[in-house]
Amino acid sequence: MKTLPTLYRNATLCTLAGGDWGLIEHGALFSRDGRIAWLGPEAQLPIALAREAQAEHVLQGALLTPALIDCHTHLVYGGQRANEFELRLEGASYAEIAQAGGGILSSVSATRAADEAQLLDAAGRRLRNWLGEGVGTLEIKSGYGLTLTDEARCLRVARRLQERTGLSIRATFLGAHSLPPEFAGRADDYVDALCAWLRELHAQGLVDAVDAFCESIAFSPAQVRRVFTAARQLGLPVKLHAEQLSDQGGAALAAEFSALSCDHLEHLGEAGIAAMRAAGTVAVLLPGAYYFLRETRLPPVAALRAAGVPIAVSTDHNPGTSPGSSLLLTINMACTLFRLTPLEAVRGVTVNAARALGLPDRGQLAPGLRADLAVWQLDHPRELAYWFGHRPCSRLIVAGQELS
Ligand code: NIG
Ligand code: FE
Repeated sequence: MKTLPTLYRNATLCTLAGGDWGLIEHGALFSRDGRIAWLGPEAQLPIALAREAQAEHVLQGALLTPALIDCHTHLVYGGQRANEFELRLEGASYAEIAQAGGGILSSVSATRAADEAQLLDAAGRRLRNWLGEGVGTLEIKSGYGLTLTDEARCLRVARRLQERTGLSIRATFLGAHSLPPEFAGRADDYVDALCAWLRELHAQGLVDAVDAFCESIAFSPAQVRRVFTAARQLGLPVKLHAEQLSDQGGAALAAEFSALSCDHLEHLGEAGIAAMRAAGTVAVLLPGAYYFLRETRLPPVAALRAAGVPIAVSTDHNPGTSPGSSLLLTINMACTLFRLTPLEAVRGVTVNAARALGLPDRGQLAPGLRADLAVWQLDHPRELAYWFGHRPCSRLIVAGQELS
């Protein structure tokens, strides 16, 4: 879509370029064709750009950051699982509920029963929460269909949400989420089937990346290896739900396949950290799931930090373990529960989240990057991690297009 050459003036720019906040007071930013063409102190704005601008926004000192990125969600599903929340409060564990046929499989039944319009409406309604919080890019995983037709329907909904909202949406195939009932006792046959589906879904242009759930209640490292081999043969990047409930060696396996990210990681050990570091794999921390499952084992934040593994933060929005819809609350939780600094948490939903999705064209403010911008009624970007239940975003711009 064509966008006007646009000038944003009198902003406090938070570029996140370099390792710090990258603050520029009394800043200006000029965008053209959906990209950032120039930014800097307004006093240095080239006169030719001021003349070229066809739209101008004077921000009165408001904070201008890169639009936020939620790099791990399961936004498309039918139904909800509040009953399991009650069961867990009465003492049942997440794994026990899953083994008894609830958990992911109860969302699979509800998702299969919903048609495409219903899934699109429900996910579209949820998505408004992200729009209101300055999120410009969102990843959506399949994994509640678990047949070729039902996975395709969910991935199509992800594609249609991008058309409908203007947000940038990445679709990840998570066929290896749980073993569907029709394959009970035949996990290896299911892995063969989902690898064949992946080829078909890829041919339909529905897949940007491939994920799997490596856990004793889901898929073994050997099975994940087969899924990843199929993905890499198609040239698709991989990521992994790894070491959430136990250390399966999933992170090291994912690193072998140059995974973009490993996500959850509460049980990640030294070997996994070293492998992720060597492969440049991002650690995606999901404090919403940790909170909602009332976990007590923290991810090894200090060791990840010491090793220099990039850390991202995401909602993991899903009906079972993280029904929250607020990326801002999530970054607050990353600080309070996981002891990230506000700078680390904000980098976790911008620069490092972009990296977890393999998108080097966003997540910072710099010339040449996409004009994905959020304007906030805040004095300093550390407030993004401080307030919760507060909606300070006043403008969201995606690829130069104003969405709200
Ligand atoms: O990221 N860990 C696996 N998948 C989801 C939970 C899915 C569910 O319970 O519906 C997660 O936490
Ligand atoms: Fe997840």
